[in-house]
Amino acid sequence: MSEARTPLVLVQDEDAVRVVRMNRADKKNALTGDMYAAMADALAGANKSAAIRCVLIAGAPGAFCAGNDLQDFLRAAEDEEGLSEPILRFLYALAGLRKPLVAAVQGPAIGIGTTMLLHCDYVVAAGDARFATPFVNLGLVPEAASSLLAPRLMGQRHAFALLVMGEPLDAPAAQAGGLVNRIVAAADVDAEAMKAAQKIASLPPEAVAATRLLMRGAPDEIMVRIDEEADYFKVRLQSEEAQAAFRAFFERKK
Ligand code: COA
Repeated sequence: MSEARTPLVLVQDEDAVRVVRMNRADKKNALTGDMYAAMADALAGANKSAAIRCVLIAGAPGAFCAGNDLQDFLRAAEDEEGLSEPILRFLYALAGLRKPLVAAVQGPAIGIGTTMLLHCDYVVAAGDARFATPFVNLGLVPEAASSLLAPRLMGQRHAFALLVMGEPLDAPAAQAGGLVNRIVAAADVDAEAMKAAQKIASLPPEAVAATRLLMRGAPDEIMVRIDEEADYFKVRLQSEEAQAAFRAFFERKK
């Protein structure tokens, strides 16, 4: 008898909070196309549900998200493709989400693991969380409108160190850069993030939505930047710089 496979993304509504949990711990939550699709559906569904007042995105013990699956990037490069449809759908869903987004981060948050946080409204991180966007080191360019949002959040020079130089941030540095609200023990990160999500969900939803929209503005500019970055990304994926970097990652243990 074949065993039912545990989904790589778990989506569960706990009262008014939709919990979206990346669940591929053996690969440090490197994201595949199916995972992006499931997360995009969960966010788009939250927009449509009046019962959902907040979304919480979480990882596995010891790993928030190791970024895009590099095997998938290697395949996309060989097939002369760019960011796939599920990736773009997830990025648009992040930018277009009309409910507050909370994140619970522990362990590595690499690439999209960090850039998705730029779309969050509240981030709780464990002391062991590590944030990095090694796009340029991989021969790539940033995505998820991070080239727009990171300089806005942390200023040009901090964003340059993160996005161009690939300098990682530990939890205190991420908090100083405005990426993280609170740092807690790893064992408490999910519960503390849930408390924040429940608190947000308990507020008057129309006032929350209106205030959030006033603070963020319409997402049009962000959508345009997602597309502009995707154009560059497709070209960079085909580059020898990028393909050599992907191969080097998988050969590093040999
Ligand atoms: N794509 C595909 N597989 C990945 C991955 C990724 N982005 N990140 C991790 N994995 C896999 C590893 O290949 C390894 O698989 P294996 O057990 O079959 O060899 C497994 O996940 C565990 O990773 P490992 O590197 O052994 O764990 P670690 O604790 O030493 O390091 C990271 C964790 C996240 C720091 C490291 O895996 C890493 O740097 N990953 C790549 C991050 C990245 O560049 N992402 C793309 C950004 S655009």
